[in-house]
Amino acid sequence: MHITPVIRLGTVSDAEVLADLARRTFVDTYAHLNTPEDTDHYIRTHFDVKQVAAELADPDHVFLLLYAAAQLAGFAQLIRKPVPPAVPAGALNLSRYYLDRPWLGKGLAQPLLDAAKQSAMAQGASHLWLTVWEKNPRAIAYYQKSGFTSAGLIPFTVGQDVQTDHLLVLALS
Ligand SMILES: CC(C)(COP(=O)(O)OP(=O)(O)OC[C@H]1O[C@@H](n2cnc3c(N)ncnc32)[C@H](O)[C@@H]1OP(=O)(O)O)[C@@H](O)C(=O)NCCC(=O)NCCS
Repeated sequence: MHITPVIRLGTVSDAEVLADLARRTFVDTYAHLNTPEDTDHYIRTHFDVKQVAAELADPDHVFLLLYAAAQLAGFAQLIRKPVPPAVPAGALNLSRYYLDRPWLGKGLAQPLLDAAKQSAMAQGASHLWLTVWEKNPRAIAYYQKSGFTSAGLIPFTVGQDVQTDHLLVLALS
């Protein structure tokens, strides 16, 4: 079945539904590989509704919400922030790029990435950069087939656990 998604900018009024989706996707993707304490800590710190609302209100953050069949199916979050040394100075961070589990493998990742690229270019960025956990093979495969290249490894902390992420970069054009 071909699905035509609708993508729009997120606003503060989306905080609750977005926090729900982010929590659910984080648990679906990572909970089986982390302790319950580390998962809970990450979710409380990053996906509390107040925290998500604050980020939605922050001009350095852009949220792109993807709807499929009238449901929120995923989102991308772009952040303007200092880049790691291995990343070009004009790069924007693709900080989160989440599809809800029922929508994996349904061709929705590409339109969401296209929208993130368009938004980043409109903000004057030369590249996107992101980090992806070494134990997330599906996302790594997706980023590879989408043209991201490796810029090394970088630590990422979940609760008490210091993990190893791949640092990936994509030139925009
Ligand atoms: C990352 C994400 C947006 C990609 O969207 P998607 O719909 O899964 O993407 P696709 O299905 O087009 O591509 C995934 C690829 O990984 C492959 N894949 C699936 N499981 C895999 C595995 N265990 N190991 C290696 N490759 C795998 C798929 O076959 C597919 O490749 P193909 O198109 O050549 O067959 C989505 O998986 C997602 O939201 N995951 C949960 C949250 C997440 O991990 N976000 C990224 C955080 S950095």
